[in-house]
Amino acid sequence: MIQSKLPEVGTTIFTIMSKMASEHQALNLSQGFPDFPVNQEIIELLNKALLDGHNQYAPMTGLPQLREAISDKISIMGGRKLNADREITITTGATEALFASISALVSPGDEVLMLEPTYDSYIPAVQLAGGIPITIPLKQPDFSIDWGLLRQKVNHKTKMLIVNTPHNPSGSTITAGDILEIKKLLQEFPKLIILSDEVYEHIIFDDLKHFSILNYPEIADRVIAVYSFGKTFHATGWRIGYVVAPHEMMIEIRKVHQYLNFSVHTPTQHALATYLKEPSNYLGLPKFYQRKRDLFLSEIKGSSFKVNKSTGTYFQLLDYSEISQEEDFQFAERLVKEFKIAAIPISVFYTDNQDDKLLRFCFAKKEETLSEAGKILRSI
Ligand SMILES: Cc1ncc(COP(=O)(O)O)c(C=O)c1O
Repeated sequence: MIQSKLPEVGTTIFTIMSKMASEHQALNLSQGFPDFPVNQEIIELLNKALLDGHNQYAPMTGLPQLREAISDKISIMGGRKLNADREITITTGATEALFASISALVSPGDEVLMLEPTYDSYIPAVQLAGGIPITIPLKQPDFSIDWGLLRQKVNHKTKMLIVNTPHNPSGSTITAGDILEIKKLLQEFPKLIILSDEVYEHIIFDDLKHFSILNYPEIADRVIAVYSFGKTFHATGWRIGYVVAPHEMMIEIRKVHQYLNFSVHTPTQHALATYLKEPSNYLGLPKFYQRKRDLFLSEIKGSSFKVNKSTGTYFQLLDYSEISQEEDFQFAERLVKEFKIAAIPISVFYTDNQDDKLLRFCFAKKEETLSEAGKILRSI
């Protein structure tokens, strides 16, 4: 009899909803992935890298020219000047970056704070490391951080605080005030480190600024940040991202990375190293996705769903409490079966399955998909 190390983990909701969507031929706005093509130029760069013979193991830490290009990008985005050799590692998506960071730095009995609704990979990673996940609900309706509540949970056993901005699933973003609170906390708790999940750094709207944890040199020795090229370049299937950490922590993170994956797909790293040299390839993303968010919002105007505008990510929450009092999972299931549209119920992002009658819709879709979705949602 096998004793599960993760008895509470089942198949993720993303797999369940995507499968249900395909069985019922429903429009799939559940799982977060684009339905439009990757830029032709980067595909050509990848093809070229393959043909040029870049097909053997890349260095364990990642291709040097890609790490240099990332370091330049971080400077352009307002971050501190990084040492690409010592402080950046290429990973198999942000998923591996998160897992390697948590495994390397959380020890048995350490408490790890995270905000709910919470991205689904954090808790199992903390549990496998023997750590204790402590969840703190975000304030509704804007999903901002309740610092009073958070402070009640910090103590000498707290090793790490995980923040995620722009935030999946709520679409909220942190503010300058939140950064001040983080700095104060780091001063008061000298062993605390921050793990900042910034995979949606370029998907932020209404001229808001992305407050990256890397923009503050005074806390640089206490912060880790993770990123995803899958999100930034519409290629979630390429499974490539990176982690930034101070060298002392990076030594430990690389020890995990080297036995988890050793290194990441070589030709993709060559392609990205070239593609990143042109800042317009990522600086145009806020406008690109804001058009999609605005189209989605205009398409659902006149529907019975209530909306709190997303300020970042490619997700929009819709409140269905004026349509039904069903539990969110049941309502989501009925939407797929009866109305042929799939979304994610938000209760799955809470440890106690808190049900706020909210569904998450992904708007990283072609215009025609968003119009079709609008037509269905207006009819409910
Ligand atoms: C908040 C958040 N973090 C991390 C990830 C994982 O990113 P990747 O696909 O690069 O592993 C996702 C993907 O959905 C995410 O939404």
